[in-house]
Amino acid sequence: MADNDSMRLDRFLASAGVGTRSEVKKILKSGAVMVNGIPEKRAETKIHTLCDTVTCHGRRLAYEPFVALMFHKPAGCVTATEDTRHRTVMDYISHDRKKELFPVGRLDIDTEGLLLVINDGDLAHRMLSPKHHVAKTYFVRVRGMLSLADADAFARGIDIGEKNLTLPAKLRILSVGETSEAEVTIYEGRFHQVKRMFAACGHTVLYLKRTAMAGICLDPSLAPGEWRALSAEERGILVSPGKETADKGKLC
Ligand code: URA
Repeated sequence: MADNDSMRLDRFLASAGVGTRSEVKKILKSGAVMVNGIPEKRAETKIHTLCDTVTCHGRRLAYEPFVALMFHKPAGCVTATEDTRHRTVMDYISHDRKKELFPVGRLDIDTEGLLLVINDGDLAHRMLSPKHHVAKTYFVRVRGMLSLADADAFARGIDIGEKNLTLPAKLRILSVGETSEAEVTIYEGRFHQVKRMFAACGHTVLYLKRTAMAGICLDPSLAPGEWRALSAEERGILVSPGKETADKGKLC
């Protein structure tokens, strides 16, 4: 949130969903915006988000503090906000309130797929806490033939060289051959967890893509490198206590 709950009018309008920064410029010029009942055309006018009344075409606008996006992370992009050698997640995101945003958790540089990008540190903390068992689903291609013994091992928990076995995970085998494909759902987020689980079963991961997290599915219309704001329904799933812990409420 901006300092002292105050922000420029154009930013306020964009964050209230009126349009992009350039659309907002045109709307301001048209005279459709009023602040406390007085027409206001200047983009730089400071708004106090808690006490000023802003209308556009007569409709009262509310400031939305929570921003949540989904990003289709491409391979080669690092899950960080800054990096000297590689493109980062934030290099792909052109959101008006980009400065407030950060990715929830990490994907390896070669992993593709869903990353949630939000501005709420407490929510991110809850989603990443091992206590909450947030579901994360991946499409995976591995070397060698997957078998029901592998699915059993995933369901029981696997020794990946740490004090505790991994939590029970779901392995749904999709195809078997020289390389095999599967969907795997895990409920924790240890370092390189999926790759280490398959390695412990004798399989090298050749390709990994996250398809869902916390009940939110990667939008198939998003190409790698693209992002969009979460829909109202997706935001609801994310913020409802308990929903994020399992697959219930999943939209895909
Ligand atoms: N598990 C991995 O091994 N890598 C990822 O990027 C995510 C989960």
